[in-house]
Amino acid sequence: MKPIRDAIEALEPNGIGLVAMMALGEPDLIPLWFGESDLVTPAFVREAAKKALDDGKTFYSSSRGILPLREAIRDFHKRTVGSDVGLDRISMPGAATLAVVTALQILAEAGDNVVVVSPIWPSIFQAAQMIGAEVRFARLDDDWRSSPPGWHLDLEKIFSQCDARTKAIFIASPGNPTGWVMKRADQQAVLDFARMRGIGIISDEVYGTLVYDGTSHAPSFLQIAEPDDNVFVINSFSKAWAMTGWRIGWLVHPARLEQQLGVMTIANNTGPTSFAQYGALAALTPKGDAFRADMLERCRAGREVVRKFIAGQNRIRWIRPEGAFYGFLHMDGLTDSLEFARALVEKARVGVAPGSAFGPPGAADADSFVRICFAQDPALLAEGLSRIERALATM
Ligand SMILES: Cc1ncc(COP(=O)(O)O)c(C=O)c1O
Repeated sequence: MKPIRDAIEALEPNGIGLVAMMALGEPDLIPLWFGESDLVTPAFVREAAKKALDDGKTFYSSSRGILPLREAIRDFHKRTVGSDVGLDRISMPGAATLAVVTALQILAEAGDNVVVVSPIWPSIFQAAQMIGAEVRFARLDDDWRSSPPGWHLDLEKIFSQCDARTKAIFIASPGNPTGWVMKRADQQAVLDFARMRGIGIISDEVYGTLVYDGTSHAPSFLQIAEPDDNVFVINSFSKAWAMTGWRIGWLVHPARLEQQLGVMTIANNTGPTSFAQYGALAALTPKGDAFRADMLERCRAGREVVRKFIAGQNRIRWIRPEGAFYGFLHMDGLTDSLEFARALVEKARVGVAPGSAFGPPGAADADSFVRICFAQDPALLAEGLSRIERALATM
């Protein structure tokens, strides 16, 4: 008898981790590999969590998150996407990563399949694999001929892969690593299709407010879904508020699942970290909105640094991201992004994420890309990019 399930045995470390393991924390290396800014969480958020600790908020928390925080999340949705999301739909399983796992646990089981719009953050397809579901990739088309070049979603690629065992369509918009932003009309088409076929939608909106078109939020499924649609929207404090280490995010789910979410948040994590929630509460005040605005400007400046750099390159191009904080850089002639990322660590002392990590596994076109996070100090970012340029010249 086998000691563990095949799906678990088959799990392999993703390429981002493999590269980062080589030199994590080494001071001479410029780390652009992870999805986080180099900013420390703002002081007023840290102070609120410290106060919570001093006030003895060290016990188990309400399983779906403390009420004032869930109310503040409800207000956040009102002011960013204009949707009135009831408290019966807001639960806090832990970080967004755990919200992803929870949504997949709700919708799919072994033998089912999940259609994922890719390239995408690898933990998403690994989470589906963990529960034994098959992952089917619907890759965005990279159109280099249009002006400007863009990522395009071919809805047929999603629809044609759905069959009787398809339980969820997973979409992250703004996307990691592409920065692609899903259009409202496409969201509506996917929602109509999913309703008709009884398929759930998991919409990962952790970069929702990090958009460069002047709007307060990318188009959200919250704006079109009814409270009882089989739609799950994931959000996080990690990105826009520089709180990656806090492990706190939330899940908007159908109203009818309130009771199940109570049980699942207890069984999966007992509830979110108590004192972290008081920090998160501070993040949702006007001071937090001001911080988010500064963060967006920092990302915009980083995006501009990358744009100028690429303008002077003949082997590197990109599709300028409309949201999130990544540059997904295409390198002409590159055929093994993991080897290249490893060489960049060893020889150039800069950390990038290999394109192959973002799926589909084994796809040749993924291997011509590397991902960098540009939510960084502009001078450090510029130095990181010139290191990549110098290394590329010798390869
Ligand atoms: C699309 C996407 N969803 C979720 C997460 C994870 O968020 P959290 O830190 O809240 O687990 C990330 C992190 O990179 C991400 O890129």
